Amino acid sequence: MPSTLKDVPGYAPHGGALEIRMASGDDKRRLNGEAASLPTIAATSRRVLSDLELLAGGAVSPNRGFMAEADYHSVLDDMRLSSGLPWSLPITLSATEAEAKNLKKGKSAAITHEGRVVAVIEVCDIYSFDADDEATKTYGTSDREHPGVAYLHSQGPRYVGGEVTVLENVFAHEYADYRLTPLELRSKIAERAWKTVVAFQTRNPIHRAHEYLTKCALEIVDGLVIHPLVGGTKGDDIPAETRMKCYEALMANYYPHDRVILSVFPAAMRYAGPREAIWHSLLRKNYGMTHFIVGRDHAGVGSYYGTYDAQLIFDEFETGELGIWPLKFEHSFFCKACEGMASGKTCPHENDQHVHLSGTQVREMLQRGEEPPSEFSRPEVARILIDAARANR
Ligand code: ADX
Repeated sequence: MPSTLKDVPGYAPHGGALEIRMASGDDKRRLNGEAASLPTIAATSRRVLSDLELLAGGAVSPNRGFMAEADYHSVLDDMRLSSGLPWSLPITLSATEAEAKNLKKGKSAAITHEGRVVAVIEVCDIYSFDADDEATKTYGTSDREHPGVAYLHSQGPRYVGGEVTVLENVFAHEYADYRLTPLELRSKIAERAWKTVVAFQTRNPIHRAHEYLTKCALEIVDGLVIHPLVGGTKGDDIPAETRMKCYEALMANYYPHDRVILSVFPAAMRYAGPREAIWHSLLRKNYGMTHFIVGRDHAGVGSYYGTYDAQLIFDEFETGELGIWPLKFEHSFFCKACEGMASGKTCPHENDQHVHLSGTQVREMLQRGEEPPSEFSRPEVARILIDAARANR
């Protein structure tokens, strides 16, 4: 296993270096000893624990911790860190008033989970925030029905900024074989000598349209990383455990193994649409990717975003400034007249020739034990989803 980025060739991480915040060896023992006497902040949400995992491996480089107020406002207002580097979503740790009262700037605090210390933060800032303002700027809405906005309102009233050192990744055991850190994924890519690598973000089972995007992309780059998000999604999304079975079935039957890697992406879903597309791509840059797939309504929920807003936002940055290239895809579908997968860019036929199924239609079919047509979903995937729907009844 590589121990530093110098061992792994490839493109530079965002800001130039991977900021790995996982403690090791002596540091870990020392910090664990010291942490017992520190004031505590409880990590009460899965998102905070996921963010700690991202920080531990350097996935959110150049960030070394939870944001101080200057970076927070700069990201909200300008989509940049205060250094000027592009960054689209805040990384925050909230505390209750009681917790905040015990904290001092310049001193450390312990971040706990179920009574155990999982990280230490060197507190540099303690500040109030306006959840509606953050919601409007990052999610484009203050509607509390939006799952990302609801999360903002569920937090404690103060944000705590500072560099963190992570002592324990509480999710390390989940999909352990696929849980590659940025350094590990970069090393795998280097072993395969891929010069260009495209990442596919998904929070869904891979249906035929998703497969089509990944394979079109694979026609033009050396390798593909199927990088499903497993760090927490809203209740009615298909759980990661079921989705992983679907990805494995596709890897076994439909993808060339020498050109595709399946690895999990531990971030929590924000449902921030356009801003999340930028966040998703910058994190993938840190994992060693050169290209990133952005299709229709990327990271969207409900009807808060326009179908292609998550593609248009890339134009707000100078060419090359992000250091990872979006591969933009129009709405894709199976066309009966074309007898194949197509999109608005390639298909001349009317809508009635296209196989379209809504999420609700698919859910109902699966619950009835009915396989969606093979033009929509591979039968191996459909059978896994039917079994999962039956088990949930
Ligand atoms: S997301 O929240 O991770 O964006 P999803 O897993 O549905 O949701 O989508 C993964 C990627 O595939 C996103 O880039 C999305 O825009 C794209 N995508 C999903 N379905 C289609 C489709 N029918 N046509 C084009 N792009 C699509």
